[in-house]
Amino acid sequence: MYNHDLNNIPKFHGRRKGRKLSKSNQLALKIGDRYLIDKEDFKDVFLCKKNIILEIGFGDGENLINSAKQNSNFFYIGADPFLNTTAQCLNKILFHNLRNVLIWPDDVRKILELFPYNSISEIKILFPDPWPKKKHHNRRLIQKEFIEKIHQILKPKGTITISTDHDILKNWLLEKFQNYRKFEWMVRSSKDWRLRPPDCFQTKYELKSIAKKRKPSWFIFEKQ
Ligand SMILES: C[S@@+](CC[C@H](N)C(=O)[O-])C[C@H]1O[C@@H](n2cnc3c(N)ncnc32)[C@H](O)[C@@H]1O
Repeated sequence: MYNHDLNNIPKFHGRRKGRKLSKSNQLALKIGDRYLIDKEDFKDVFLCKKNIILEIGFGDGENLINSAKQNSNFFYIGADPFLNTTAQCLNKILFHNLRNVLIWPDDVRKILELFPYNSISEIKILFPDPWPKKKHHNRRLIQKEFIEKIHQILKPKGTITISTDHDILKNWLLEKFQNYRKFEWMVRSSKDWRLRPPDCFQTKYELKSIAKKRKPSWFIFEKQ
């Protein structure tokens, strides 16, 4: 079931553009535009019979690209509003000639309404911006409304994996998911949240975090 109500989209507060793009990234934006998904393209994506994985905030694309390379039977959609990372990622998609990835170069909250219910197998959010200050907590991606929405679009038993190295965000997201109750935290021992899950690749942000002697945590919630 589609719901095209795109009103009430929260304002995006992160960076949209950083340093000047390199020549090769400028070129990637031009020739890689066939990999950019449009709102009108969504219905076609769901005609493919593959499992669809949504990665939100793919950054430099280490996880998105490596996952797509390794799993040609899965179809990946990456969302990130930062132009520099989109260009970087398109460059890698073109280099590896990938056929199973599309990029939404904007805030993911603008497209959540376009996903049919029960359509996504997995969602990955690796190191979302923590917005640690209390006055900025409404800028965090993980909110009750967001959790309700992803619960609708995930398939039954579909999972969402979220990592963070920030204590405030860690406690915030655990509280939000546990209050919602329609997700089960997939945890048996502390290893389950202290170690990167085997299907996630190391990202630039994780490397930075380890270099600063922080301890990333990994949470997997399954739709009930
Ligand atoms: C801290 S970086 C982490 C990047 C990457 N996942 C990594 O681990 O290296 C957070 C990323 O999330 C993106 N982001 C923030 N809010 C977003 C939103 N509403 N929709 C999609 N991406 C978002 C940012 O542009 C940024 O690239």
